[in-house]
Amino acid sequence: MYQLTGVTRDYQKGRHTVHALDGVDLVIEDGDWLAIQGPTGHGKSTLLQILGALDRPTSGTVLFDGQDLTRLRESQLTQVRATSIGFIFQSFNLIPTLSAQENVETALVPLRVASAERQERALRALTDLGLGDRARHLPSELSGGQQQRVAIARALVKQPTVLLADEPTGNLDEGTRDEIMTLLEQLWDQLRLTLVIVSHDSIVAGRAQRTGLMENGRLTIGTRSTHPIS
Ligand SMILES: Nc1ncnc2c1ncn2[C@@H]1O[C@H](COP(=O)(O)OP(=O)(O)O)[C@@H](O)[C@H]1O
Ligand SMILES: [Mg+2]
Repeated sequence: MYQLTGVTRDYQKGRHTVHALDGVDLVIEDGDWLAIQGPTGHGKSTLLQILGALDRPTSGTVLFDGQDLTRLRESQLTQVRATSIGFIFQSFNLIPTLSAQENVETALVPLRVASAERQERALRALTDLGLGDRARHLPSELSGGQQQRVAIARALVKQPTVLLADEPTGNLDEGTRDEIMTLLEQLWDQLRLTLVIVSHDSIVAGRAQRTGLMENGRLTIGTRSTHPIS
């Protein structure tokens, strides 16, 4: 699915350079459930943005299903994102003036799905996540856990192969965190997704098949039995 080799990402901050990613090598197989843990400011979001074709590395290669994302034009990256990659965020990133259903529909607009089919698929995606009766609500009329479910529906309505999540439970209480993690694991299993979650929360990371530790822009991959985090 993914093969990253020697990936770096530098940011210019005034006169000095921040090495947000400092030579990341990573293979992610189809159907993997990988958690990347690590303290704030160590490059986790930067790595996820690159996996999500939202950003480009400064150097290195990023193979996604055999094609090098670093060589694609912007329009081609947009196409990869629209068809293959679902993304969810800590702060949900819903559009506040749109209903839950309209938020989910936005994922189908770049795919040129006709309006009636968009509405139908969005409603079905919400219903599958237990939110059929909330479709007309605005985000402000929903709890945090419900807003994250809407965001998950928006990420999955296009039937992507990969789901990327950046601190998906960071704004939720513990009970809701566990509920959302259970939901993500069920979806990973049912839909045969490749799931990558970055989180500073060891409870979240502890549930993954494989874990990695990001420190100072460098990634160490372990497994459950040889966990890099004690
Ligand atoms: N757009 C940006 N411009 C400048 N520096 C950035 C930008 N994004 C991230 N950084 C820097 O890169 C480093 C890694 O950030 P980030 O990937 O967001 O870490 P994490 O997600 O682990 O908290 C930090 O030092 C951060 O300040
Ligand atoms: Mg981050």
